Amino acid sequence: MDVLNTINDMRQWTADARSRGETVGFVPTMGGLHEGHISLVRASVNECDRTVASIFVNPAQFNEKKDLDQYPRDLDRDSAMLESAGCSALFTVADKAMYPDEHETWVYLDRLPEHLCGLDRPGHFRGVTTVVTKLFNIVDPHRAYFGWKDAQQATIIKRMVEDLNFAVAIRCLPTVRDADGLALSSRNRRLSSDERKKALLVPRAIENAKEFFLAQKNDRQALIDETERFFRGVEGVAVDYISLVSLSDLEEASEVAPGTMLALAVRVGQTRLIDNCRFTEDRSCSDS
Ligand code: PAJ
Repeated sequence: MDVLNTINDMRQWTADARSRGETVGFVPTMGGLHEGHISLVRASVNECDRTVASIFVNPAQFNEKKDLDQYPRDLDRDSAMLESAGCSALFTVADKAMYPDEHETWVYLDRLPEHLCGLDRPGHFRGVTTVVTKLFNIVDPHRAYFGWKDAQQATIIKRMVEDLNFAVAIRCLPTVRDADGLALSSRNRRLSSDERKKALLVPRAIENAKEFFLAQKNDRQALIDETERFFRGVEGVAVDYISLVSLSDLEEASEVAPGTMLALAVRVGQTRLIDNCRFTEDRSCSDS
């Protein structure tokens, strides 16, 4: 696996691949890699001639300095995981290379960030869309891979790519979970063993939502109340939001129906967990 530490080296690498007629897949990450990230790398390796992953802990998308400082960083471990998944190149650069002191250009969307996680995390999605734009311009991939676990992020990136006419195909993949159902996240390693047990309420609430939909129920408030009840009175657990929204515009949906999504964010101790389930036409509730 090639390791590229400058923007110019990254550009040249893709230019060389493109000149050989190869397709380039791209998996942007912030490191702290787990099987969720690796599933994206594998999909890219299957579909593209060459795969680039980036590791950049993007300061512009963190609201709390403590969260940024505590973000897991282990480049050796991450590189070994990428290499064994068949990744061809790793792009990782210093903060100053991405955001020199004179940086003042931002990419933001008007409406999609004004829902769900965007309400608790002002400026977060502006940081995401700006860094993803920069990474797309630097890496210049044919396809880029994102996880539905971060459904709002995936929706925002797809909108941005259409609105700004990026020549990148966006692929979104299902949430990878631990055997007990907890969605994999770089932040899970911060959970104590007691918190880890409480965190399982999140996938249980998601399972319940799937059953609710499968049972042909459609009452929005009933689903939100049932979901809320999983967390009520549990010490050390606080709900940030439980929302039923339309997948296309993330506006509140009036009933549980195909094309809507139940999304939730819950704090377990200091750790914020998000999860969702999307309700599809065939009444299967998809992670994909
Ligand atoms: P990060 O949290 O490292 O996630 C990188 C990618 O992995 C995202 O597309 C995310 O949705 C996906 N992912 C995370 N957990 C997953 C899981 N359990 N199953 C499947 N996919 C999962 O998301 C970011 O980084 C950043 O915002 C980034 C896009 C890199 C911009 O800085």
